[in-house]
Amino acid sequence: MIGRLNHVAIAVPDLSAAARNYREVLGAAVSAPQALPEHGVTVVFVELANTKIELLAPLGEASPIAKFLSRNPDGGTHHLCYEVEDIRNARDRMRASGVRVLGDGEPRIGAHGKPVLFLSPKDFSGVLLELEEA
Ligand code: CO
Repeated sequence: MIGRLNHVAIAVPDLSAAARNYREVLGAAVSAPQALPEHGVTVVFVELANTKIELLAPLGEASPIAKFLSRNPDGGTHHLCYEVEDIRNARDRMRASGVRVLGDGEPRIGAHGKPVLFLSPKDFSGVLLELEEA
């Protein structure tokens, strides 16, 4: 059912240092930082040939990655995002399989303007998964 790996999201304590590392050390194409206040993050997109890396830094008081960074002060892999054709079909399939869909299960518009859902890391080997309707 899942399609491409859309992105790997990495939570970082210092966005400019992380962006510089990707640009100058790894030689990647790195975007300017974009503030996404509705998602509580500032993001830098790293474009690779086969997928994207998103470097996420907390923005505002109630950032969804603040707790993660307090447990992982150096940063760390926050989630993987897989593409699906139909987000509601995917949700129903997850629920029928006993997978915990986070929140109220209604798809939200994600950082790319597409509907997304998050799945509990408890059901996927400790990794938070995002499904995005591609
Ligand atoms: Co994401």
